[in-house]
Amino acid sequence: MEALITLLPGDGIGPEVTAAAHRVLKEVATRFEHNFEFDVQLIGGSAIDATGEPLPEDTVASCERSDAVFLGAVGGPKWSDPNAAVRPEQGLLNLRSVLGVYANLRPVKVIDELISASPLKPEILDGVDMIVVRELTGGIYFGEKIREATFATDVCRYQTDEIERIVRMAARLAEGRRGKLCSVDKANVLETSRLWRDVTSRLLRDEFPRIEVETLLVDAAAMHLLKRPRDFDVIVTENMFGDILTDEASMLVGSLGMLPSASLGDSRRGLYEPIHGSAPDIAGQGIANPCGAIASAALLLRHSLGLNAEANAIEAAITSALAGGARTADIAETGLGHASTTEMVDRIVSALREVE
Ligand code: IPM
Ligand code: MN
Repeated sequence: MEALITLLPGDGIGPEVTAAAHRVLKEVATRFEHNFEFDVQLIGGSAIDATGEPLPEDTVASCERSDAVFLGAVGGPKWSDPNAAVRPEQGLLNLRSVLGVYANLRPVKVIDELISASPLKPEILDGVDMIVVRELTGGIYFGEKIREATFATDVCRYQTDEIERIVRMAARLAEGRRGKLCSVDKANVLETSRLWRDVTSRLLRDEFPRIEVETLLVDAAAMHLLKRPRDFDVIVTENMFGDILTDEASMLVGSLGMLPSASLGDSRRGLYEPIHGSAPDIAGQGIANPCGAIASAALLLRHSLGLNAEANAIEAAITSALAGGARTADIAETGLGHASTTEMVDRIVSALREVE
């Protein structure tokens, strides 16, 4: 098939992990005889440096022309002055909004080979397999922001239709899995959460009567994620809670560098990014874990291009490279050597060539 993919390397380790995903996508194109065209564009701090804006018009135009968008990471100390007029993160938030990708799917699946990389006990991790569905274009991220000399405000706003569409998407996912959906809110304190809970329980009762529903307050959810992670199938929650809970959940898999994400809306075009940030402390050292980025490329093939066999092949190649002992520093056992980003990608690419 023919496809146009926009690549947005961004900042920090973003370019390193984007190069990794790019290499794997080129390998898939060769092996499965597809014709992928790539268009590299600016976003975030590097876009601010080059154009003054975190999301230049050319970038938006390229994303809107393409079948799918891959993003590395944005942000870094160079652009994080509290008084800065423009910030790298605005580029990413505006892009999510412009593309209408309101549902951010973050799969958290423990890989047996990495159980010892997690700080949690192995018996808690066995069989953990969940997807967190994070609302991505509403809530406190997008409400009015005010900053004065002695106070600041961030408005958290949700409306019924925003809650309905994300909960519907999560419930459909649950139907195709173990049929369990956990909705996370803070309904004992927040009005937006009380609306979230009302809308969610009504919609699930009316449209998905067979789904097994659980409701948790976010503080309790943070605890249950560590206490009984195996119980969760699909978790649906608002923007900021989803951001926080998925960094926590990454420790179940062993490293923030392992987790991919897919941001989807009502069209087929999606935005794919590893959930880790730009990790300025290790940028440019060639030691970043490329697995989250490469797994995000697999999600891109599956969700935006409908290439399931290709996506499965990438996922199998990651597992096989790990089974063969390939480890970047973040997941290596202490005292043992570790692979550079490029060596890790080499191992995944050669595993990809072997996958049936
Ligand atoms: C993420 C990141 C972003 C977010 C930042 C970079 C704006 O943390 O994708 O999880 O908070 O959504
Ligand atoms: Mn985050």
